[in-house]
Amino acid sequence: MCGIVGYIGGKQAQPILLNCLGRLEYRGYDSCGIAVSANAIEVYKDAGRVKQLAGAMPKLDGVVGIGHTRWATHGEPSQINAHPHLDCSGNIAVVHNGVINNFQKLKQQLIGEGHNFVSQTDTEVIPHLIEKYYHGNLEEAVATALRDVEGSYAIVVLAAGEPKLVVARKDCPIIIGIGDRENFIASDVPAILDYTNRALYLEDGDIGIVTKEGIRLRRDGAEVKREEHRIPWSVEDAQKAGYEHFMLKEIHEQPKVIRDTLGDYTQRAEPAMLMDTGIESMLILACGTSYHAALVGRYIMEELLSILVRVELASELNYYVPNLAKTGAIAITQSGETADTLKAMKKLKDMGCPVLAITNVVGSSASRIANQTIYIRAGPEISVAATKSFTAQLMVLYWLAMSYSKVDARRLAGLIMGIRQLPKKVQQVLDNEDEIMKYAKYLAGYENAFFIGRGINFPVALEGALKLKEVSYIHAEGCPAGELKHGSFALLSKDVPVIAIVAQDNTYEAMLTNLKEVKARGSPLIALAEEGDEDIDQLADSVITVPKGDAIFSPVINTVALQLLAYYAAKQRGCPIDNPRNLAKSVTVE
Ligand code: G6P
Repeated sequence: MCGIVGYIGGKQAQPILLNCLGRLEYRGYDSCGIAVSANAIEVYKDAGRVKQLAGAMPKLDGVVGIGHTRWATHGEPSQINAHPHLDCSGNIAVVHNGVINNFQKLKQQLIGEGHNFVSQTDTEVIPHLIEKYYHGNLEEAVATALRDVEGSYAIVVLAAGEPKLVVARKDCPIIIGIGDRENFIASDVPAILDYTNRALYLEDGDIGIVTKEGIRLRRDGAEVKREEHRIPWSVEDAQKAGYEHFMLKEIHEQPKVIRDTLGDYTQRAEPAMLMDTGIESMLILACGTSYHAALVGRYIMEELLSILVRVELASELNYYVPNLAKTGAIAITQSGETADTLKAMKKLKDMGCPVLAITNVVGSSASRIANQTIYIRAGPEISVAATKSFTAQLMVLYWLAMSYSKVDARRLAGLIMGIRQLPKKVQQVLDNEDEIMKYAKYLAGYENAFFIGRGINFPVALEGALKLKEVSYIHAEGCPAGELKHGSFALLSKDVPVIAIVAQDNTYEAMLTNLKEVKARGSPLIALAEEGDEDIDQLADSVITVPKGDAIFSPVINTVALQLLAYYAAKQRGCPIDNPRNLAKSVTVE
């Protein structure tokens, strides 16, 4: 959602804040702003991107400041609604991520007490509450103000004449980056990588008092200590490295990500405690692309572990009471901060269900809620559309299932060989980029498309459709190939292409039948099929060929091809690929 930054130290804050905000734009980008304090607070903010804001503002003097990129929840993107927000006197500035649920009530009270509001945001109540309680001690005023607030927040508070920043969190991420006689605040790691790789992660309920010289944390009035983390990512990891977009760079990183994730996981060989608790069924929960990885995980685990696996969207799991008898849970989340996923994890833990997290971000909220965490080694994923994290999540699911597998030694040896060949096979798909680009350009001329698959490639159809719609704005639906005839056929025509994912497994014959049905209804048909599949050549209008291999690993290969298809369709249509309209990388509200 929104991105938050803060700086305090010996350097001019303005260029540092703008640079950090630029690195966070993937979190939210409908408006942005900064506040810098020398003696008085100066605020510049507007709808639009960080570059525009930077170009429109004068040089500001001050070594302490805060900044924000917004993803609107309350009030349209506009200059007035952009953060930072101020109190009546203009002496207190606040940036906020999250939602204040009782803001209407607080706003009415504060108006009754003489406070003037200018925006439609929920955030604006926070600086006014702090103003109400501020009698010379900023941290006390923030602590008191937050007692009135219901909802979720990560905030940074700046007060004129105070050589400190006060930060607080509840259900929204915030970290403090540790420098040499300077400190940084950010909602997410990539913001501060240019300056430091040392960070403290606040817990819910913590309040941090950050000065140039040090960091003090308190909770319920008493001092607390939080462990310092080394961030395992470099500045280069978070840059485009010559690629036109982060999405393309991240697609191309996948052979390395597979090696890194497998290498790390197999070397550590830490047993997954969850698997040793006598569970008889597994519940996997996630949102978005991670949910599609979870769906593939179901096929992998049911086949290799012979246990019952349920997959739930976290946002749905939060609104019913699941039967958890002898069940273990796996939560999959790239960011480790998705609000729906965190809420579902807490619910399961409260119900006594052990939870294993699979996440990309060291120290993220998911890792702190879970009983155990396995980290994928995808490196920072900046593009809003997830690509390499999906592949890395699958690697963990494969390895987890293989480690506890009940299959015979021969099959296991075949699986180990198959997984080790994946980086090479994914590279072959990437080497076929020009061919895929050709089909993407063709697809870019349509407004609707269906993706179909069966079995373990049904989730791949869902992911292919999600990728295409989020970056190219072509309406796309993923559908089990056998279900098309139960309704969606009504939409098939020469204007609605179908992309069919055809694997060499027990679904093959049925898929051929489905392809014939599609052709009979006049839809242009693009098939994704293994090289050497002559039947498909006869049936489909166009064929994207992918390398042969064990069908259990085909979701990895096929998804990479579909990522490229979506990317190049979006490029052809001139879309803002890394920052699609209305979306955010990390969704920290329900
Ligand atoms: C957002 C992102 C998606 C992501 C989903 C779940 O919607 O735009 O790319 O798949 O959140 O995120 P998570 O971090 O929990 O995997």
